Amino acid sequence: MQIEEKKIDEEIQGQATMLESKNPSGKKLYLESYGCQMNFSDSEVVASILIDQGYSTTKDVEEADVILMNTCSIRENAEQRVRNKLSQHNKRKKQNPSLVIGILGCMAERLKKDLLEQEKLVDLVAGPDAYRDLPNLISEVETGQKAVNVLLSREETYADIAPVRLDKGGVTGFISIMRGCDNMCSFCVVPFTRGRERSRDPQSIVAEAQDMFNKGYKEVTLLGQNVDSYKWNVTKKGEIIDPNQPTVSFAELMEKVALVDPALRVRFSTSHPKDMTDDVLHVMAKYENICKYIHLPVQSGNSEVLKRMNRGYTREWYLERIAAIKRIVPEAFISTDIITGFCGETEEQHQDTLSIMREVGYEFSYMFFYSERPKTLAERKFEDDIPLEVKKRRLSEVQEVQAELALEANSKTVGKTYEVLIEGISKRSDDFVYGRNSQNLTVIFPKGDHKPGDYVNVTIQEYTSATVKGIEAN
Ligand code: SAH
Ligand code: SF4
Ligand code: F3S
Repeated sequence: MQIEEKKIDEEIQGQATMLESKNPSGKKLYLESYGCQMNFSDSEVVASILIDQGYSTTKDVEEADVILMNTCSIRENAEQRVRNKLSQHNKRKKQNPSLVIGILGCMAERLKKDLLEQEKLVDLVAGPDAYRDLPNLISEVETGQKAVNVLLSREETYADIAPVRLDKGGVTGFISIMRGCDNMCSFCVVPFTRGRERSRDPQSIVAEAQDMFNKGYKEVTLLGQNVDSYKWNVTKKGEIIDPNQPTVSFAELMEKVALVDPALRVRFSTSHPKDMTDDVLHVMAKYENICKYIHLPVQSGNSEVLKRMNRGYTREWYLERIAAIKRIVPEAFISTDIITGFCGETEEQHQDTLSIMREVGYEFSYMFFYSERPKTLAERKFEDDIPLEVKKRRLSEVQEVQAELALEANSKTVGKTYEVLIEGISKRSDDFVYGRNSQNLTVIFPKGDHKPGDYVNVTIQEYTSATVKGIEAN
């Protein structure tokens, strides 16, 4: 899943959310989310389920009756952050013994009962497929028991639950189109925490996009760990499930969402290099409202390392996919994810990562050093043999190359005019607004008479490696 710049911040800080309740006299829920966009999207389902039960949400942890933390296990430090926060919440429980503390999401699924029994940090543990059970689990805790539901499902997609939008902006939002992952990349914990891949009913996806557009949203991002393997009404083996219903591929789904309205922008995340088809690129090229931006995680530029990572492609295959993007959607910006210091990575193999970055010319990258995760293929098969300081040094080299590439890419935008969707008022000055162009570049410009949700043509004048600034075009 693509990690937005914003998300990194959220991953570090966690993010509390607040909104109205159907029954203001009900109990107060403090809901904190960490990790990828999928987790933030799941929190909207959780809020919907509990608001239906009369809860209201609060941003003030001191007034909470129930604290729920929706957590991430992707790297060791993501879990550490949650543990630190949990021990703070536990101090509150000493003062207020009726406070319910629950853990949701990937850490809940990975650690299961350990969090209750060994670590004694929480009252309630609910995995990503168990959120419908939350009202029961909370009731169990209220009767003095500990409650756990970490069953993973092959079917659950929460398709019928209308998520309560937790972002206050009301301009951009996420729609989960599938859950789980069947890929088994050797470094990755997600298949263990999210279970088997399953696609959501396309009608419910299109209806959700339409509903968001009716409510004033101007952009939706279709979410999945590997959107290219979205498939409706077809089994993994390619057999049609119901002959009376059409099958739907990701390219077809994206087209359906694009047709909701030309004024609704469509993004998606994350594409997988082994599965990304030309069909998807042709649909992108055909519809102006499908944003010209692809997040295509490479992880490493060396084929041997990619093999150990079990990514299912080589450097050459990846570069051929990049060539296809540049051929079919030439104006697209491309971003990636990179892991440095994976098991057995030599200095030459690391150089291959630096060289593929320059060869592709990524506009943006999310960069990490390898963090071994329990139960993954890599943990069982390979030694985590690269010293931490080497992993970190390689990471800083990757970051340096990325900074150069971003600066170069952004310098080329000067003098060009882009349609920008305003998302909010700049934090630095009320006279400026920020938004993104189709290529996902953040653009800052004078507010004038505009408001969030407006599309404005902006000519770029200045740039840094992170953002560009401009003025409204004549
Ligand atoms: N489904 C998405 C990835 C989701 S995780 C995809 O395949 O692209 C987001 C990113 O976290 C991954 O792309 C990878 O770069 C990074 N990541 C995953 N596991 C990691 C680990 N054990 N150590 C360091 N980074 C990791
Ligand atoms: Fe993890 Fe690979 Fe699945 Fe992405 S595609 S979630 S990296 S296993
Ligand atoms: Fe997402 Fe973290 Fe889980 S990246 S899928 S919340 S392990």
